[in-house]
Order: sequence, then structure tokens, then C-alpha cells
Amino acid sequence: MIFYFTGTGNSLYVAKELDEKIISIPQIIKEKRLEFSADSIGIVCPVYGHEMPGMVKEFIRRASFETDYLFAVLTYGAHHGGAAEIAGLFFRDAGKKADYITTIEMVDNFLPAFDMEEQMAMDKQVEKHLNEIKARLQAKSQGIQKTSLAEKTAHNMYLKMVKNAPETVWAAFRVTDECVGCGICTRVCPAGCIHLENQYAVHEPEGCQACYACVHACPKMAVQFALPQPEKNPAARYRNAHVTLCELVKSNDQTEND
Ligand SMILES: Cc1cc2nc3c(=O)[nH]c(=O)nc-3n(C[C@H](O)[C@H](O)[C@H](O)COP(=O)(O)O)c2cc1C
Repeated sequence: MIFYFTGTGNSLYVAKELDEKIISIPQIIKEKRLEFSADSIGIVCPVYGHEMPGMVKEFIRRASFETDYLFAVLTYGAHHGGAAEIAGLFFRDAGKKADYITTIEMVDNFLPAFDMEEQMAMDKQVEKHLNEIKARLQAKSQGIQKTSLAEKTAHNMYLKMVKNAPETVWAAFRVTDECVGCGICTRVCPAGCIHLENQYAVHEPEGCQACYACVHACPKMAVQFALPQPEKNPAARYRNAHVTLCELVKSNDQTEND
């Protein structure tokens, strides 16, 4: 049993590859009782600022897991900054002992810093690393990925630059006149932070996870960043090639109960 969170499909792809039973965190977290029992329970999610997304942390805090094997696989794009060890401490503080935590490098969807075309052209050997992780999980390996000196340095530099959680720093969006009111952004948002007003998308920062699903999925590129620095490539957007827009909507849509 795997619980996953995704903005652009990397973590969903990994979850699909690792288990047949996968459950979306943005959907299940709405339940009052979060009690789960299975031989093996895993979390798959992206790394945001070297940590798990806020909603994933809330889920881990609230859920109870009855299992012989608790693991996490964290997808990242450039520097995980010791995300596995950081997550291990989080699990411990939430009263859960993780047996195995690792990271996997994929396309970095952090648009302010990366050009998606360049990212997609890079061979990050995802399949090879996925197969290694599959073997580890099958063997019920124990251990939390150690942080290399380079990743420790990246983490320390990051802490000097960024003082607040990613969702408070990088969740500033604006919607341009290109918006046609198709509503896709409202349906890929895992936190229900976007709605349409007069056929025009409006983003409310409250609860936003900064997953960038809305920015990446907009067919008109009308959802843009309202950050001081320009994007690396404003014309490039990303969704994992093994994940459809429908799957993203099914994973994240919060509009059905509106
Ligand atoms: C707000 C934000 C912060 C991110 N922070 C990091 C980071 O600290 N290190 C990193 O390597 N990648 C970072 N990324 C990239 C994602 O972790 C990576 O692309 C991930 O695989 C996306 O998963 P998804 O497609 O399931 O949403 C960040 C992305 C976003 C949107």
C-alpha cells in the first residue's frame, strides 16, 4: 500500500511502479479516520526545500500505520539536501519508525530555477534507480539514506537563503489575460486553492502546497509566477511522460464536493 502526493506526476509514476495499491494523500486526508493496516506501507512524494510537502507531513502526523515495513521514497530534481534523513527525523517525531527512506532524482519541476526543456533532455537514469529501489523494497531493506557532504553543504546554503516553508515562499501566482476559464488548474490543485470567477482562474494562497501543478498544467500558460526573479524558460512546462492529465485530476481534484 502506497500513499502518494504529486504536482507534476513524478511521484505518481514512482508510486505506480512500486505498488498496485496506491492512494492519493490529497483525497484520503479528507477522511476523519486515517487508520491503515498492510504488510508494507509506503509514502511517495516530492521534496520541497529538502522536506516533504506540508500536506504529506500532516498526513503522516495524523495517520496510524499497522505494518511490518514502513518506507518512503522522495522524488527530487537537483539537490535533496539530506531529505531522507530529515524525513526520518520527522517520522520519529510523529511517533513512527520508518524502516527505509530513500530519494530518487527526476525532472526538477521548480520552474523559477530550472528550464523544463533542459531538465527533460537530461538522463537522470530514473529507470535504473527505480529498479534498484524496487529490489530494496522487495528485500525489505532497512536504513535511511545517508547525507553526503555535497548534500549537507546544499542544505546549509539553502537554510541561509530561505527562512520559511516552501509553500509560504514560492506560492505566489498571478493569472494572465490568456486564461480561458477551462478550469484545469482548479482540478489539478491538491489543496483546492484555485477557483473560477467569471470564467477566470483565481488563486488563494491559503493552504497552497506550492506543488506547481496549476502552473505546469495550464494549457495557455496563463498561471504564472509572481516572483521577483524571471523564470528560466517561461515557454516550457512539464508533466511526467508516464502520467496523464486525467490521472493528475483524479489524484488531486478537490472541486467535486463544491
Ligand atoms: C516548491 C518546490 C520546491 C522544490 N524543492 C526542491 C528541493 O529542495 N530539491 C530538489 O532537488 N528538488 C526540489 N523541487 C523539485 C521536485 O522535488 C521534483 O521535481 C519532484 O520530482 C516533483 O514531483 P511531482 O512531479 O510528483 O510533483 C521542488 C519543487 C517545488 C515545486
